[in-house]
Amino acid sequence: MKNYKIAVIAGDGIGPEVIGEGVKVLNKVAAMDSGFRFDFTYFPWGCEFYAKHGKMMDDNGIETLKEFDAIYLGAVGFPGVPDHISLWDLLLRIRKEFKQYVNIRPVQLLKGAKTSLVDVKREDINLLFIRENTEGEYAGAGEWLFKGQPNEVVLQNSVFSRKGTERIIRYAFETARKEGRSLTSISKANALNYSMVFWDQVFEEISAEYPDVETASYLVDAAAMLMVKDPKRFEVVVTSNLFGDILTDLGAAIAGGIGLAAGANINPERKYPSMFEPIHGSAPDIAGKGIANPLASIWSASQMLDFFGYESYGKQVLDAIEELLIESKILTPDMGGTASTSEVADRIIDLIDTRI
Ligand code: NAI
Ligand code: MG
Repeated sequence: MKNYKIAVIAGDGIGPEVIGEGVKVLNKVAAMDSGFRFDFTYFPWGCEFYAKHGKMMDDNGIETLKEFDAIYLGAVGFPGVPDHISLWDLLLRIRKEFKQYVNIRPVQLLKGAKTSLVDVKREDINLLFIRENTEGEYAGAGEWLFKGQPNEVVLQNSVFSRKGTERIIRYAFETARKEGRSLTSISKANALNYSMVFWDQVFEEISAEYPDVETASYLVDAAAMLMVKDPKRFEVVVTSNLFGDILTDLGAAIAGGIGLAAGANINPERKYPSMFEPIHGSAPDIAGKGIANPLASIWSASQMLDFFGYESYGKQVLDAIEELLIESKILTPDMGGTASTSEVADRIIDLIDTRI
């Protein structure tokens, strides 16, 4: 029997609440198949850990995580710890050290989910974002000079390496080819006269290797407008770290809300563990109340199943989410219901049961 070792970093706020439910769903799926099981190891890292130890994770944290098949992450961030510390010292560190250079974020309006858009059909909202995940605007390069002085100067540099840019764009072309869908590049070459001119050039170069893939290219501001006005023109989308971060929150808003949006941080070479997470944060405003929506973390569990090659189970979980949304009976308050976090997950498990 294959035993998948999963590192669980539930994190802060609603992180542990939603991840606990995702673990239940993963265990349910594993129980249906005698061929594999999950072995979860929990790490208490995050802002509470920081408050006690002055660091977001153990010193040998990265070394420890290397041994795992995947990481299942809730959310990090809590009042009292500056967001740039909580994000940089845990989440971004893992993404960079494990070369998880592909961030896959589906923006797909599931059956039964509500969109905030008018005059669009469900099928029109089916985008697959492929976001660069290790460099770009989040490279962490810069300077803070003359701090607190009248002549204070701050520089935040973006890093677009040829290697980093080529590999994300090539990954996106491969995905578009495999799915038989078009690929749209989103950039901003009119204003970012080095980084994005380069990005567009690399996109052009690589597109020549994929004559069978239809392409489009938009400026990020126009793309934001078009995602709202005419989302059907986007299928597979490739973009930079910052633009992808922003546009996928917009994507969450048009595809059922932040309580539903999931993301996978992938190391395509599988040399290091990949990481699966809901894209929302720790939601301190509702933490501890038992009302956080677990669907995003359950969708990310389904992405994990896909990644391990169990696509049919991944689909079963996604189908169960759709059925729950169509029933529209057991939903958390963010979706207009009155159910608790665990009631939603328990219903998902029932629905998986009735499907076998
Ligand atoms: P957030 O995503 O935590 O919350 C935004 C709004 O959405 C809040 O009103 C919250 O109640 C609601 N919300 C989020 N997830 C929900 C869920 N599953 N069910 C129901 N409602 C949900 O973003 P915010 O408030 O900007 O950030 C809070 C903290 O989370 C900050 O410290 C931030 O740095 C951190 N954060 C961490 C992320 C991560 O770990 N990947 C991602 C985004 C933010
Ligand atoms: Mg974000």
